[in-house]
Amino acid sequence: MSKENKFSRRDFVTFLGGTASLALTGTLSSCSSGGDLKNLPFTPISFTDADDLVLARGFEYKVLISFDDPINNLGDRFGSNNDFTAFFPLSRNEAILWVNHEYPDPLFVSGFKKGMIKTKEMVDKERKAVGGSLLHIQKNPKGQWVHNKNSKYNRRIDATQRIPFIASRKIEGRDYAIGTMANCAGGVTPWKTVLTCEENYHDYYGERVFGTRKVDSERAWFGWKKFYDNPPEHYGWVVEVNPLSGEAKKLTGLGRFAHECATCVRTKSGHVAVYSGDDKEGEFLYKFLSKNKDSLHEGELFVADVENGKWISLDIDKQPKLKRKFKDQLDVLIHAREAGRVVGATPLDRPEDIEVHPKTGDVYVALTNNKSVGNYFGSILRIREDGGDHGGGSFKASDFIIGGDQLSCPDNLIFDLQGNLWVTTDMSGSAMNKPPYTRFKNNGLFFIPTSGARAGQAFQVASAPKDAELTGLSFSADYKTLFLSVQHPGEKSKSLESLRSHWPDGGKAVPKSSVVQISGSALNEIVS
Ligand code: FEO
Ligand code: CA
Ligand code: CA
Ligand code: CA
Repeated sequence: MSKENKFSRRDFVTFLGGTASLALTGTLSSCSSGGDLKNLPFTPISFTDADDLVLARGFEYKVLISFDDPINNLGDRFGSNNDFTAFFPLSRNEAILWVNHEYPDPLFVSGFKKGMIKTKEMVDKERKAVGGSLLHIQKNPKGQWVHNKNSKYNRRIDATQRIPFIASRKIEGRDYAIGTMANCAGGVTPWKTVLTCEENYHDYYGERVFGTRKVDSERAWFGWKKFYDNPPEHYGWVVEVNPLSGEAKKLTGLGRFAHECATCVRTKSGHVAVYSGDDKEGEFLYKFLSKNKDSLHEGELFVADVENGKWISLDIDKQPKLKRKFKDQLDVLIHAREAGRVVGATPLDRPEDIEVHPKTGDVYVALTNNKSVGNYFGSILRIREDGGDHGGGSFKASDFIIGGDQLSCPDNLIFDLQGNLWVTTDMSGSAMNKPPYTRFKNNGLFFIPTSGARAGQAFQVASAPKDAELTGLSFSADYKTLFLSVQHPGEKSKSLESLRSHWPDGGKAVPKSSVVQISGSALNEIVS
């Protein structure tokens, strides 16, 4: 039995603590998945605190779109804090790009500053700045993607529209929610719709205290609840959007929690497995298995017992413990966290983005950190489904890399076709450039081969402007462009007179979250 098959309690506890390097990465060196690079085609950059998007030589970037840019002739504007991106080709040189807008940065969106009383006008501006954008993009003769503002495909989805639930009954008296917000990462279905995930939903309308009618509004710090008293149960879902029509629906089958992402992959039987992490310290990893091959409307939700390598069903008819505590299946799904605890799921260190290796089928899960147990730097967990079937009920788990040496706080992931992992980091704005994170300086983008002599080694490709996080990685269909969200540069600025970043425009400009396109000879060599 290999070391990774013995995911012992001792190793597991150490892993949760995150302070020791388990050296399980050693098993990866022998796991060849092909696509080995003979020579690294770029010289990695070093950690830097420059207020710029710094790239290694061989890569270049161009801003595609920034916060508040007009996106069509209807007066719609590109939202705040761009996050997840997804590329839907229309033809060789045209595509629709979906972009999440995770949350409004009040200083830049509504002008709200600490100490002010938030007005309805401010809240209305913030509600229009979240959700997602659909952008029609085209390649110009230089091979760069540009936004076509005149296209009918340019649309905004925000916190104001009615979005129906796909559910067995009404939720808090309604079969629709008002809007979507907290859209962090996401996924793409096999039938080419986008899944956009509602993560920190409690920031807007609070959270119901489980088993009571009380709403805990303490963390609803955006102050929307005073003007729009929407039920907390209407948020925390995965929202499916048709990129051609903009039609949206909230899928309740995938459960309700702080969804980071929803990563789809076909099972051996041709159904769809959707992996999703709950980005909160001590919360769980989930897998949804679809009932049908072309829809996520129905299916079974499982939660991970990582310690024993088991997917535990959250089907109320299979779990007497759930039957005793919840009134029906939708009640289980609405309170997935509580249900996960009842069935004995494994608490994890903030499961964020998830990607499936294109050659091995292994599932990589970013565990950002968990300061409450002394894990400051996070890790990337690797899940290998038994029999290589994403539809199965058991798996082996091991660490792919442990943070703290090469990088800190892995968050967003993407694989290129050769199976190299691209990772962005998310040290929080209040922690960055301070102990214990000082040496890592700003957040970054890292390139990590998963096979060959360099397997598990992280090479830094990019460094973010001040206070920013890099996120939203997606490739164009030809893999010659890597889209990247530069999110919340200068977010720690206290006023427009004391800005901490001026990216991307430089000088004295107000910083703007922007989506950039990265290309260049080094990228071409890696993906060719
Ligand atoms: Fe929105 Fe978990 O990052
Ligand atoms: Ca994230
Ligand atoms: Ca991803
Ligand atoms: Ca994050």
